Parts: sequence; structure tokens; C-alpha cells
Amino acid sequence: MSTNTVDNKRKVTTSRLAEMKKRGEKIAMLTAYDYTMARLVDEAGIDMILVGDSAANVMTGYATTLPITLDEMIYHAKCVTNGVKRALVVCDMPFGSYQSNPMKALESAVRIMKESGAEAVKLEGGREIRESIAAILAAGIPVCGHLGLTPQSVNKFGGYGIRAKEEAEAQRLIEDARMLDEMGCFALVLEKIPAELAKRVAEQVAMPVIGIGAGAGVDGQVLVLQDMLGMNDGFAPKFLRRYAALSETIHNAIEHYVDDVKNVDFPNENEQY
Ligand code: KIV
Repeated sequence: MSTNTVDNKRKVTTSRLAEMKKRGEKIAMLTAYDYTMARLVDEAGIDMILVGDSAANVMTGYATTLPITLDEMIYHAKCVTNGVKRALVVCDMPFGSYQSNPMKALESAVRIMKESGAEAVKLEGGREIRESIAAILAAGIPVCGHLGLTPQSVNKFGGYGIRAKEEAEAQRLIEDARMLDEMGCFALVLEKIPAELAKRVAEQVAMPVIGIGAGAGVDGQVLVLQDMLGMNDGFAPKFLRRYAALSETIHNAIEHYVDDVKNVDFPNENEQY
């Protein structure tokens, strides 16, 4: 049974998220990439759905998030918005769709909003993409920031390890978070940074801070749906809690079906016309 105190019918908006932070109510966010799962996630009472560029990994099977295209992200986001009534839907801007210049960033964000029905976009980075974020915000498009481990920069970082352990990187992250807050971003994702640092950031900014591998001192949490449902057995970082073991359930169900078909047990008399 849900212990959720959120009004389960009222549409989640960026201003409701700000109110939730003010009254200390935690924000629950998950990723989704398709209609069926998005509908289930929404009906279960999630506040925010991220159409993450992690679609590149869990939907397409790429090793990194870099190859996914703007058209593919728009397709996934459209599938999700078709299934969602209450949650706020945020779509990731994919690698290459915003880094080169503010005009390209704005055009990419406008395409996402017009063609997918998503209600906000998320971009990875701080001061280096300041002008792009400013152009998108100026067009009235809500922006969620993303700092710490930013997977689109995996080749610069040399892997997916914890970020901002050293003081200089931590200081830069705090400055970037403050900048995003002052610019008017409605939320910030902090990925895989020390819990103490994430807590400090959440205390210093007005926008809600959503953590993944960033401890409990932030304003909300996000996980990749397939990971928390236990569909991705090979991926077991310390921060991940599995709420189901769906790969086993799915495997068993399909084995059972194969046996039934082979043994002419399916379909039976009640399952035919
Ligand atoms: O793409 C994604 O799923 C994300 C989350 C891990 C925050 O950015």
C-alpha cells in the first residue's frame, strides 16, 4: 500500500514541485520510455517521469548514452506522454542537440516540446552551457539541470565513477548549482556525488534537488525504471535498491509459455473460438 501523501489526482506542475520542496515533501521520480510502463508508473503515483537518454542503454542496448538522437528521444517522449495524466514529464536533451550553440539548443528544445508533449527538458552541465540554458528558459521552456556524474561526458571522465570527491570539483559544482538556480531552472538532478555535498547543495538552492546516488539529504530521488524493477541483473551499483525481480519473473513466464506451446497445453478449449 502507498504511504504517499501527495494528492494522487492533481496534475504535477513545476510550481507544485517548488511547493513540495518548501513544505519538505519528498519528490519521487522514475524514468520511462514507452506508453505501457509510463501509464503504470503514473497510475502508481509518481511525481515526475524522466524520459532519460538512458533509453540509449535500456531501450536500444548501446554502451553509452551518446548515440541516441533527437528524433529517437522525441519518439520515446511521445510514447510516454500518451500514457501519463498526472506526473510532470521531463525529456532529456540528447548529446549533440544543445552543446554547439544556443540557437541549436533552443531549436532542439522547441522540437521536443512541440512534437512530444513533454513539459520540460533536462540538460547536462553547468557554466559551459549557460547560454543554451538561458535561450531555452527565455522561450518559456522549463529546464531541469544535471550536475555531478553527467553520463554524456563519460569519455572526458574516463568512466562512471563518483564525482566531486575533491574540494575543487565540489566547489565548482556548488557554484554551478547556484547559477542554475539563479537562472530559473525548476529542478536539478545530482548524480553520484558524496551525500554530504548533495545535502549542502539542496540547502543552498530554492529549486528542488533530485538525487541518484546522492544520498537522502536532497529533495527527491530518481532511479532508472528497469534497474529498480530488477530487469538489469548485470547493473548493481551501491545506490541502487531493487523493488522487484522482474527479469526472473519474465524469464519464468516465458519458459512456462514455451513449455505450454510445445506440449499443446496452450491454448486450451476456453482459449479458442
Ligand atoms: O538518462 C537518465 O536516465 C538520467 C537519470 C539517471 C537521472 O539522466
